Amino acid sequence: METKFLELKKDPEGAIAEAAGLIAAGEVVAFPTETVYGLGADGLQAEAVAKIFAAKGRPADNPLILHIADPEQIHVLTTGLNANARALMETFWPGPLTIVVPRSSVVPDIVTAGLDTVAVRMPSHPVAAALIRAAGCPIAAPSANVSGKPSPTNAKDVAEDMTGKVAAILDGGSCGIGVESTVVDTTSPVPTILRPGGITREMLEDRLGAVEIDPALNGDPALRPRAPGMKYRHYAPKAPLYLYEGEQAALRLTEAVQRSQKLGLHVGVLCDDAVKTRLEESLRRGHRAEIFSWGQGKPDLAEHLYELLRDFDRVSPDFIIGMGVDEKGLGLAVMNRLRKAAGYQILQAEDNTIVIKSGSGFPDLLLTVKE
Ligand code: TXA
Ligand code: MG
Repeated sequence: METKFLELKKDPEGAIAEAAGLIAAGEVVAFPTETVYGLGADGLQAEAVAKIFAAKGRPADNPLILHIADPEQIHVLTTGLNANARALMETFWPGPLTIVVPRSSVVPDIVTAGLDTVAVRMPSHPVAAALIRAAGCPIAAPSANVSGKPSPTNAKDVAEDMTGKVAAILDGGSCGIGVESTVVDTTSPVPTILRPGGITREMLEDRLGAVEIDPALNGDPALRPRAPGMKYRHYAPKAPLYLYEGEQAALRLTEAVQRSQKLGLHVGVLCDDAVKTRLEESLRRGHRAEIFSWGQGKPDLAEHLYELLRDFDRVSPDFIIGMGVDEKGLGLAVMNRLRKAAGYQILQAEDNTIVIKSGSGFPDLLLTVKE
């Protein structure tokens, strides 16, 4: 299939009209939202939605979010909204919040993977809103990555995954938030976060009072996440990633990187600007460390995380060492993604050895941080 690259800069109205025409005709189009790029099709045409699953290689048991441009559009999709659902819509829409509500019979089974609920979100990105209006239907859209890869936050990363697989890619520049929307189940007795995202737990609690978090999100393999998508290994770079957490994270990471250089290893480093500067000053010239910084605070980490994980694949390090942040605010969402990307290989300050798993062409290796 030939994939059209539609640039918004040149002719915004023309590009959106063309993309909307393709969606109305049952085709799949990638488009920007304020969180990540989406892979959109007419959410009420089952055959069109099936093309999304094919393009992504997405398991059929993983339901999709329906994107709307006007809160009123939700009523035909659901049999009813409770007070929590209405409060969330009033406070956080448009924006990075998805609500799970009881589904109506209008919604095709393929969208909900057979569940009796449907996930709905009203994005704030002007291009997404204009596209939904022009298409004249709710747009079903997962993130625009091949299943298993980090969600794309710019058109280049979408093109890497989707060229030849979708009718068009609408290039609207970089996404501002960088992690996906928060998914909240409004049908449970206490509203429950099924996926942490752009709207923080603290913001939800301010509005609703008590909010629960799906206990399966801590990575315990014995628990089944209520958002089916959260059970899949996701976001993982090709090289094994080890994550330092806790107060001493920056210090221990610096020591581990210095040690890896003495051993001549090609190490990837994920850290903030301050640690990058310190590392660059302390490492000898000709070092083999690929030091990628996200910038300064949690919003910078959220915005750049997926792009950086993809960049590591482009430089193929032997392994990657990353630095965690606390879980307040956006920290909950970014640490959820980072821990998954690391396959829950978490290091604490007192860990003096890192067992680097084989897989990228060398046998298991023991890195002793301090001798
Ligand atoms: O920010 C976002 O939400 C992006 C942009 C494109 O809007 N979309 C996105 O979609 O992240 P996707 O498909 O990659 O993730 C949707 C998540 C999955 O974990 C899925 O299992 C869950 O939402 N989900 C969808 N419908 C659900 C339902 N009825 N009940 C529980 N979880 C549901
Ligand atoms: Mg996704």
